[in-house]
Amino acid sequence: MTERTLILAFESSCDETSVAVIENGTKILSNIVATQIDSHQRFGGVVPEVASRYHIEQITKCTDEALEQAAVDYDDLDAVAVTYGPGLVGSLLIGVTAAKVIAWAHDLPLVPVNHMAGHIYAARYVGEFKYPQMALLVSGGHTELVYMPAEHEYQIIGETRDDAAGEAYDKIGRVLGVNYPAGKTIDEWAAKGEDSFHFPRAMEKEENYDFSFSGLKSAFINTVHNADQRGEELNKYDLAASFQQSVIDVLAEKTMRALDDYPVKQLILAGGVAANHGLRARLDHDMKKYHPDVTMLQAPLKLCGDNAAMIGAAGYVNYQHGDRAGLDLNAVPGLMFERINDNN
Ligand code: KG4
Ligand code: ZN
Repeated sequence: MTERTLILAFESSCDETSVAVIENGTKILSNIVATQIDSHQRFGGVVPEVASRYHIEQITKCTDEALEQAAVDYDDLDAVAVTYGPGLVGSLLIGVTAAKVIAWAHDLPLVPVNHMAGHIYAARYVGEFKYPQMALLVSGGHTELVYMPAEHEYQIIGETRDDAAGEAYDKIGRVLGVNYPAGKTIDEWAAKGEDSFHFPRAMEKEENYDFSFSGLKSAFINTVHNADQRGEELNKYDLAASFQQSVIDVLAEKTMRALDDYPVKQLILAGGVAANHGLRARLDHDMKKYHPDVTMLQAPLKLCGDNAAMIGAAGYVNYQHGDRAGLDLNAVPGLMFERINDNN
């Protein structure tokens, strides 16, 4: 039999409890995801205390299920990988504690993983990574352009100055009466409407790789409230299409600018908002037009949201690079890649 490296991976940074078994960093033997969206929907966002309690209830069940589905035992494992940040501290601690207990009880190495590196590695299930590389990371908590000169090296070259893209989707969704998280529904509505409102494209023409979405959010909310006061009802499909077009224009333009300035072999699109159909299509189009020599890997739709399979893929790379944590590993809610330039 050929040698195989099996990693048990944990993800609990926000509102999904997930455990996966990954072979050689590229093959998913199991990826159990327990989502708590229903528990948070009535609050319109994630409630940290509710999230932690739910993680506690789910983590053992998810672990048993992940091992069973992968048909492996603790003795077959080579390492335990876990997200230790960024995220909600109470949520992170549940995954970190579970991973530590298993690593200690079964004498396995404990491998710490940055959640954002995990998102990037969701794309590893689509194809091999080539360096230097650029990643557009768009999620509910982050929007950033990450330059990777080589494997295991991450440098932020641009990021949002206020709201993350997903956060903006969720906030404007709320104004339209869409349940949290709103991104998927707004994406579907956008496909049925036209960009008739021409909302602002913040920082689009600025000579940097940073983003800002709070102005767009305010413009959107003002438009809807003003119409409400006049007793007018605006077309929700056109509102969604106009909002989405503004988000996509800025994300695509800044990404193309980054690729003009940083010669890379590959572009990665990842994070919860990478599931957006409009964004995927636009990047496909722009890459063919402006950077035909750069290949693009878009994270699979099913792995754009938080999951442990992506943590296992990133964890495998960390494991190979010798990253090890002791039993004193703590959650780091504000964990960030290093920023290499400052355009302020
Ligand atoms: O990466 P993720 O699962 O969690 C974080 O680490 O933040 O991202 C969740 C975010 C939510 O804001 C959700 O509304 C957004 O991703 N999202 C989308 C789509 N699907 C999920 N945004 C736009 N279009 C989508 N299709
Ligand atoms: Zn995430």
